[in-house]
Amino acid sequence: MTAQAAPAAKEANEYIAGGEPAQNRAVVQLEFTQNGGLARPAPSRSKSSQPESHQMISAPPLRLKPFDAADVPFFTSMATDPRVTKYVGDGRTWDQATIAEKTNNALRDAPLNELGVARWFTAHRDDQPVGVFVSTRRESAVEIGYWVPPERWGQGIAGAMIDAGLEIIPRLFNTNILIAHVDPNNAASARVLTRRGFHTTVRENGLDRYIWQVGPFAGR
Ligand SMILES: CC(C)(COP(=O)(O)OP(=O)(O)OC[C@H]1O[C@@H](n2cnc3c(N)ncnc32)[C@H](O)[C@@H]1OP(=O)(O)O)[C@@H](O)C(=O)NCCC(=O)NCCS
Repeated sequence: MTAQAAPAAKEANEYIAGGEPAQNRAVVQLEFTQNGGLARPAPSRSKSSQPESHQMISAPPLRLKPFDAADVPFFTSMATDPRVTKYVGDGRTWDQATIAEKTNNALRDAPLNELGVARWFTAHRDDQPVGVFVSTRRESAVEIGYWVPPERWGQGIAGAMIDAGLEIIPRLFNTNILIAHVDPNNAASARVLTRRGFHTTVRENGLDRYIWQVGPFAGR
């Protein structure tokens, strides 16, 4: 695919995912640059200037930042945990070489129109990493993935990261289509996608391919 360069965008942004989130569900405050690289802190806002939906949230919001070398140990803790990798790839934990290959690809600042180029983001809560959202350019779409440590499952973190991804990724990669590959036994992953309008299409190599696209679903 010959992807076009992403349009210029604000260097830093802040985004609260999910419009009207329910109490105790995760929301995301997002800091990113158009190339997924250097992030600057979002401007602080006084409480009175915050949207009403934000003030309703009792759990601290998530902050999504571009994946950084300092996040590699956190990612490694998940990639080496069999509970996390159970439905990822061949189901086995990742060895150090695989972790290095994938994280190095995520950290290299390659052009966004290059096939296989990745941009990863780490979600933080109270300055602690609580999840990683990954995106990779494929032939005709951008593939997403999401990792949350088991002690944080069920808190809406994956959902909030995906909500943010649906805002960022189309603009970042200049694409209309996001895909995800999900093991049919990974009920939480399937649920978090279908709740956000992803449609399952075909099963390839034992994985269900989910598609989301900007605008009406065309049934690809
Ligand atoms: C899949 C994963 C990312 C979900 O993260 P999470 O932060 O717990 O997800 P959320 O809390 O945002 O949402 C999970 C949804 O699945 C539901 N769910 C959880 N376990 C479920 C199960 N066994 N069956 C059906 N639904 C389930 C939750 O109720 C929630 O739905 P809701 O929003 O309607 O209440 C997490 O389990 C994980 O990191 N797994 C390991 C890595 C992985 O499999 N990544 C995806 C690869 S495709």
